[in-house]
Amino acid sequence: MFEWNDSYSVEIASVDAQHKTLFKIIGELHAAMLAGRGKTVMAGILDRLVQYTVSHFAHEERLMRLHQYPDFAAHKAAHDALTTQVVQFQTKLKSGQEVVTVPLLNFLNDWLQKHIKGTDMKYAPFFLAKAVA
Ligand SMILES: [Fe+2]
Ligand SMILES: [Fe+2]
Repeated sequence: MFEWNDSYSVEIASVDAQHKTLFKIIGELHAAMLAGRGKTVMAGILDRLVQYTVSHFAHEERLMRLHQYPDFAAHKAAHDALTTQVVQFQTKLKSGQEVVTVPLLNFLNDWLQKHIKGTDMKYAPFFLAKAVA
């Protein structure tokens, strides 16, 4: 379910490597949920996910700004929305509320499917033309 494959490649080595790490962390979260791991374990993984998300989005935004990607504003807005959502799950878990598995899994799946395959993939030809690797 949460495995990176070539269909997710945006043909930029640094970004693909980060996406693979995102898949890995999300996979760990999924496994922890399935195994019914406690809140401490879940919160630790979610903390890592939030941190990694912030630095990954910053990396993409730096590249987009550097190369004056025309769709920067919309892409940044999508990042901000995803960050807000993942932070909300983190806050919920930290405040002791039960994190409902299905909405969290749906959200993470949407992120990998829709954001990487939809939004991220749109910059692939742009960066390829600029020889960004
Ligand atoms: Fe991305
Ligand atoms: Fe992105």
